[in-house]
Amino acid sequence: MIILGIDTSCDDTSAGVVVDGRQVLSNVVHSQVKLHQPHGGVVPELASREHLKNIMPVVSESLRKANIRMRDLDGIAVTVGPGLVGALLVGLYYAKGLSYVHNIPLVGINHLEGHILSIFLEEESPGFPFVALTVSGGHTSLYHVEGYGKYTQMGQTLDDAAGEAFDKVAKILGLGYPGGPVIENSARDGSKDRINFPRAYLSSDSFDFSFSGLKTAVALYIKKWRESQEEAEGVALADIAASFQEAVVDVLVRKVMGARKKVGVTSVVVAGGVACNDRLRTSLNEAGSSRDIQVYYPRPEYCTDNGAMIAAAGYNRLLNDEKDDMSMDVRSKYPIQDLPPFP
Ligand code: KG4
Ligand code: ZN
Repeated sequence: MIILGIDTSCDDTSAGVVVDGRQVLSNVVHSQVKLHQPHGGVVPELASREHLKNIMPVVSESLRKANIRMRDLDGIAVTVGPGLVGALLVGLYYAKGLSYVHNIPLVGINHLEGHILSIFLEEESPGFPFVALTVSGGHTSLYHVEGYGKYTQMGQTLDDAAGEAFDKVAKILGLGYPGGPVIENSARDGSKDRINFPRAYLSSDSFDFSFSGLKTAVALYIKKWRESQEEAEGVALADIAASFQEAVVDVLVRKVMGARKKVGVTSVVVAGGVACNDRLRTSLNEAGSSRDIQVYYPRPEYCTDNGAMIAAAGYNRLLNDEKDDMSMDVRSKYPIQDLPPFP
């Protein structure tokens, strides 16, 4: 089955063509980073307008690169939520138009299911069950994944997403946007143990996250650091970046390992933009190998938002005889527990 996947949930206009939920024929992403950079974050109205400009060329390019025509498609999968309503609407209505005009089955996809299943775009992927951490600018959640469509949420962030914390701290440090890559780069020259920022583990049996306290602690530290010229005493910006990054990584690693222990699985999947982070990968791999746990990551291109992962999720839903009609609407909030279950 050849599926076209479309995602316009946030600031990337993306489309991918995937065979049988695994073999990627194309994955085209038009990033809006430059547009939002001066604002230090995504401006929803600008994002919608930019999606409108780019959705047609991006989809055409994905078909061209896959070397297929519209009539070769067996289905169209499109993200309906969670995400920015105005942004989601552009992708959904374009997909509806294509489906109607070319008479191709259409299915609406939960963006988080896309991130969870993005690992199946890789040769090396786990068998079920596994624990999945989706960690990006919009979400930080842990799931017990027992099969396609069988996801139980174990925890989520109570305030900021991990990527959001990276973005906000980078802004305070004047490092630019998006924050993840610039903090990671700066951290390479710093000491991760220089400043002991707080880790919010919450209660010992909780798999929820909280990053707003850490963000505030870093902001207060930076204010003091700037005022008191503590830099002269040996604390460099790189040390702050590395110490902040380590605080995020420590919490993510501990929660992931705790969750996998609780449900007794030996495979872990980490996806979403923050999963690009090398320090997180190293730390998870170390924790995993000492416990005989295999940790799987999609390549960075499939970690950040992309159409291929939506096509992968769409394949399984269409195979399961799920189809949506023209009345389908977007959902700014779309908890994974609201997904139609698989038999
Ligand atoms: O998955 P994604 O492209 O979009 C959302 O659905 O949010 O993730 C973007 C987020 C941003 O917050 C960005 O700062 C973060 O992922 N990110 C990183 C890295 N690369 C991207 N965070 C930490 N380290 C990175 N290398
Ligand atoms: Zn995402």
